[in-house]
Amino acid sequence: MAKDQIVWGILGAAKINDKVVVPMHNAPKCRVKGIASRSTEKAREAAAKYGLAVAYDSYEALLADPEIEAVYIPLPNHLHVEWTIRSVEAGKHVLCEKPISLNAQQVERLIAARNKSGRYIQEAFMVRTHPQWLKVRSLIDEGSIGELRAVTGGFTYHNTNEHNIRNQSELGGGGLLDIGCYPITTSRFAIGREPRRVVALVEQDPAFKVDRLGSVLMDFDGVQASFFYSTQTYPYQRMQFHGTKGRIEVEIPFNAPNDKPTRLLLSENASNGVATDRWLELPVCDQYGVAATTFAQAILSGGPQAIPLEDARANMRVIDAVFRSARSDAWETITEG
Ligand SMILES: NC(=O)c1ccc[n+]([C@@H]2O[C@H](COP(=O)([O-])OP(=O)(O)OC[C@H]3O[C@@H](n4cnc5c(N)ncnc54)[C@H](OP(=O)(O)O)[C@@H]3O)[C@@H](O)[C@H]2O)c1
Repeated sequence: MAKDQIVWGILGAAKINDKVVVPMHNAPKCRVKGIASRSTEKAREAAAKYGLAVAYDSYEALLADPEIEAVYIPLPNHLHVEWTIRSVEAGKHVLCEKPISLNAQQVERLIAARNKSGRYIQEAFMVRTHPQWLKVRSLIDEGSIGELRAVTGGFTYHNTNEHNIRNQSELGGGGLLDIGCYPITTSRFAIGREPRRVVALVEQDPAFKVDRLGSVLMDFDGVQASFFYSTQTYPYQRMQFHGTKGRIEVEIPFNAPNDKPTRLLLSENASNGVATDRWLELPVCDQYGVAATTFAQAILSGGPQAIPLEDARANMRVIDAVFRSARSDAWETITEG
């Protein structure tokens, strides 16, 4: 009988696991065997909390388990590249949390490791396989809002905890890598091509030495996409796509709920010329479960991935250019390399 399930292991008892691990374990084509922590006690607690069979007392012990086929990596950002490479060298496929690296150059190492090992590596941008984003893309492609001309968006929260990984520069903290990356990936996905240049205003937190507020304009040659992000303002998230004949608003673009439908507002002129607002509801789903199944399906079929590393590299190139623009006070071209 053809193999129809991927056995997963989790590296690190991270907070995000509360959202990911049970949906992954219950997702079609997936089973989570166990979780590893640097602390035996934390590994046992996490395995019990999520109902997993095995608690590994080191990341190395999990990677040495031949039954584990794929690894989910929710480590702090500065460890993503190192543990992704160690995992594929141990023969595992890898779904690694965003941002998959700290810059585009580091993705080259991942591409080399993927090509050498023949294993799949994917950045865990769960939004990219959520049906609401597939719908946004198809509405734009079908011309539902006419010609797309502008994108606006924002993603914020308020977190001044000095112990949080987001407020520690040496762990790859900062708002752009944590949340600014979402309006970038969803704009690129919905528009269907890469921006040519960016200009940005970025403010650093003087104590944490990480970016806490930023405004970014991306030039997609005919589409202007702007967004702001902050780690120190009232929580907010929204994305809007403005066309010549209509507009799409994504109500909860990034932290899509798993217990109620997600909604898109489609504003357009009816045939009688009167403006109408329609809410489109997408069926309830868990975006972390969908992402896990999509990745497992690619492994099982040997087919293409939803988000190949070349896409992750393109996203990191935009992030690199935003940081360059913040320093130069000028437009920065998206460069290869
Ligand atoms: N896709 C999403 O919706 C989403 C949401 C939130 C976060 N994320 C991403 O998920 C990752 C984890 O975020 P989180 O907030 O869950 O992090 P967290 O709670 O701080 O967990 C990170 C884990 O990494 C391990 N670790 C290893 N070395 C470490 C070090 N030097 N310092 C701190 N922790 C270390 C620890 O596990 P052990 O002690 O058990 O080894 C720790 O529990 C980040 O990359 C973040 O961007 C994604």
